[in-house]
Amino acid sequence: MNYIFLGMPGSGKGTQAEALAEKFNIPIISTGNCFRKHIKNETELGLQVKDILEKGDLVPDEITFEMMKKEIETMDISNGLILDGYPRSIKQAELLKEFLKIDIVLNIELSEDQVLLRIGGRRTCKCGETYHIKFNPPQKEGICDKCGKELYIRDDSKEETIKNRLQVYKEQTAPLIDFYKEQIINIDGNPPIPEVTEEISKKLEINN
Ligand code: AP5
Ligand code: MG
Ligand code: ZN
Repeated sequence: MNYIFLGMPGSGKGTQAEALAEKFNIPIISTGNCFRKHIKNETELGLQVKDILEKGDLVPDEITFEMMKKEIETMDISNGLILDGYPRSIKQAELLKEFLKIDIVLNIELSEDQVLLRIGGRRTCKCGETYHIKFNPPQKEGICDKCGKELYIRDDSKEETIKNRLQVYKEQTAPLIDFYKEQIINIDGNPPIPEVTEEISKKLEINN
C-alpha cells in the first residue's frame, strides 16, 4: 500500500508518518527532510532551494518531483511507501499519478492556533526524529533519545515564515483534498500523539 500524509504545516504529518512506518515496516520519503539534507550538505540542489525553504515557499514542482523520484529509486518499496509532504500542488499530484499508484491519503486536520503552538515548541534532530518541548519532550533536554545528537529549531519556524507557509498551504496544497476525494481519510489531529496514531491504525484496518 502506498500512503500520502496531507495536512497543514505542523499538523503532525512527520510524527505520524514515523509511527506508521515503524508499525507497518515501510519506508518514508519526506521531501522536507530531503531538502534539508541537501541544504546541510551544500549540494547543488541544496544551494538552489535554501532561500525558498527559508521563506516558506514551495520548491518548483519539477525539481521536487525529480528529487523524490531519485530518492525512491534508492529505496525498497516492495512493502509500500509513505509520502510525507509530497505532493503539495495539483501539478505535483499529476506528475505522481504517472509514476506511483496511491491507495490512501491521510488528511490530518488541525486548527491554525494549534499549528502555531506545535511549530513553536518543535525540536528536530538531523536523524529525522521530531520532539516538542511540552507535548513530546526528549528524556534529556535538547538531546535526541534515538541517536544522542543535539536537537535544533528549524530555520522555517520564524513567525513570518510560518504565516507564509500557511498561506501557501491554503492556496496550493488544500485543493488536493478534493483531488484525492476517493482516497482520503480524515484524521482529527487534536488528541495527543499516541491517540492520533491509534485513530489512524483503526481507520486503516477498516479500510484494508
Ligand atoms: P516540510 O518539512 O514538509 O514542512 P511542513 O509541511 O511545513 O510541515 P512540518 O514538517 O512543519 O510539520 P508536520 O506536519 O510534519 O508536523 P510535525 O510532525 O513536525 O517542508 C518544509 C519546506 O520544504 C516547505 O515549506 C517547502 O519549502 C519545501 N517542500 C517540502 N516538500 C515540498 C514539496 N512537495 N513541494 C515543494 N516544496 C516542498 O509536528 C509538529 C510539532 O508538533 C512537533 O514538535 C511534534 O512533536 C508536535 N506534535 C505532533 N503531533 C502532536 C500531537 N498529536 N499532540 C501534540 N503535539 C504534537
Ligand atoms: Mg514534517
Ligand atoms: Zn536523532
